[in-house]
Order: sequence, then C-alpha cells, then structure tokens
Amino acid sequence: MPPADSSPLTGHVALVTGSSRGIGWAIAQRLGRLGASLSLCARHAEALGEARRTLAERGIDALATPTDVTRPDEVARLVELTLSRFGQIDILVNNAGVAWFGPVHEATEADWDRIIDTNLKAPFLLMRQVVPGMIRRRHGHIIQIASLAAKNAFAGGSIYCASKWGLAGMTYSVAEDLRAHGIRASVICPGSVLTDFSPHSGKDTRKMLQPDDVAHAVEMILLQQPQSFISEVLLRPTEKP
Ligand SMILES: NC(=O)c1ccc[n+]([C@@H]2O[C@H](COP(=O)([O-])OP(=O)(O)OC[C@H]3O[C@@H](n4cnc5c(N)ncnc54)[C@H](OP(=O)(O)O)[C@@H]3O)[C@@H](O)[C@H]2O)c1
Repeated sequence: MPPADSSPLTGHVALVTGSSRGIGWAIAQRLGRLGASLSLCARHAEALGEARRTLAERGIDALATPTDVTRPDEVARLVELTLSRFGQIDILVNNAGVAWFGPVHEATEADWDRIIDTNLKAPFLLMRQVVPGMIRRRHGHIIQIASLAAKNAFAGGSIYCASKWGLAGMTYSVAEDLRAHGIRASVICPGSVLTDFSPHSGKDTRKMLQPDDVAHAVEMILLQQPQSFISEVLLRPTEKP
C-alpha cells in the first residue's frame, strides 16, 4: 500500500471566517498543515495579523483580511482579494459566530440583528460570492459550523438556536442545490467547546470538546471519498464535562 499523503490539500484554497481565535483558528491551522493555502478573516486586525504571522513561520501561505462578515461590501472585498491572490476558492468554512443567552423578552432588537446577521446572514453572503466560482470549476466544499443548538432547545437559547437551526436548514437545501455541480455542503454541530465564546463555570474543562476536535471533523469531511459526502456531524465529548 502506498504511504498516506501527508498534504492532501496541496493546491487547494480554503477561506475560513472567524479564523483569528477559537475554533476557526484551529481549523485554519489544521487545513494549513494539510497543505491548503488560506484566506483568514475576522474583524480585529491585530489578532488576525498575529495568526497570519504564526502560519507564515510554519511555511503556510495565508492572506489575512480584516472583515466584518455581516457587511455585504466587506464580504465582496474579502472574496475578491482571495481570488486575486490565489485564483480560486475550493473550501469555504463559515465559522464566525456570536451569541447572546437569556430569555427572549429580555433580548433587544440589536441582539437579534447581531446574532442572526453573523450566524445566518453572513454564511448566505459568503456563499453568494463563492459558489459561482465553485460551479464553474465543478468542485467545492462548504462547511458550516453550526452547533448542537441547531438540534436541541435550551432555556436562554432562543435567538442563538434560531440562528443555528436556520443555518442547518439553509445548508440542507444548499446541499441539494449544489450536489449536481460537484459541490458538497455539510454542517458540523458541536456541543460546548473550550473557547472564550461562552462561560464554562461548573464544567470539567479537560473533558470538554477542544477546538481541534472540530478541526478534525472538518478534515474528515474534506477527505471523504469524492463519490459520497458527510452531510452532517453531531460532535459530543466522550465523557460529560
Ligand atoms: N465554543 C462553543 O462552545 C461552540 C459550540 C458550538 C458551536 N460554536 C460555533 O463555533 C463558531 C466559532 O466559535 P468559537 O467558540 O471559536 O468563538 P470565538 O472564540 O468567540 O471566536 C469567534 C471568531 O469569529 C470572529 N468573528 C465574530 N464576529 C465576526 C464578524 N462579524 N465578522 C468576522 N469575524 C467575526 C472573531 O473575531 P473578531 O471578534 O475579531 O471578529 C473570532 O475570530 C461559532 O459559529 C459558534 O457559534 C461554538
């Protein structure tokens, strides 16, 4: 048997949103290690620049573009800069996300807009810009980082659950739109992951999912044999934290 290819994504370009820290950063590092060229984005330029420098030190080619993914003009610019630097986008990971937790009657309209715009509208804006090129090339992967909140209701989660439930529903339809074009759209639904996203009081953080567990699921989806695809991954810690 020939040795396994250690850089199976060489020649591929991955755009990962929200890739300056947390889960997006773990995904970017993993895809870079697998040989992909990277387009990184987040709102704050400093952390993003630091991520790009760390990748460069490891010999990984990355473009870093400060971007607010809720803004159509900034998303268009991000995709334009990525295409002019790398010529194509093979992998789109919609990871950027925000949350607010509390009872629905205490949420403001601004909370609703921020969460829905970031977690649901932004993946639509990104797909609208990226998919035409994937269709032309008859090849592409779209991976949405949703949450188990796309499956399970919980107190205080109304707006967050709406955004992730919506993201999963949108993606099941997108997968049907695009499969005939050789493009695979998948959803990853992790349980609580050890990042700064939400508080973890009372939990055994050693037992929690780690950002790299989600990156591993992304790798698994990307390396699935081309004639089939993993449409959804529900990711849980082995032991309850
Ligand atoms: N952590 C969990 O327990 C957990 C569980 C399941 C699913 N998820 C999902 O996983 C994803 C990543 O979560 P995480 O835990 O890694 O969060 P995190 O540590 O807070 O990181 C979020 C990333 O998204 C970026 N971001 C946020 N808003 C953005 C915007 N409008 N435009 C561009 N970038 C933006 C942030 O950078 P800037 O602030 O600089 O923009 C940062 O890079 C989210 O979609 C989240 O819903 C998380």
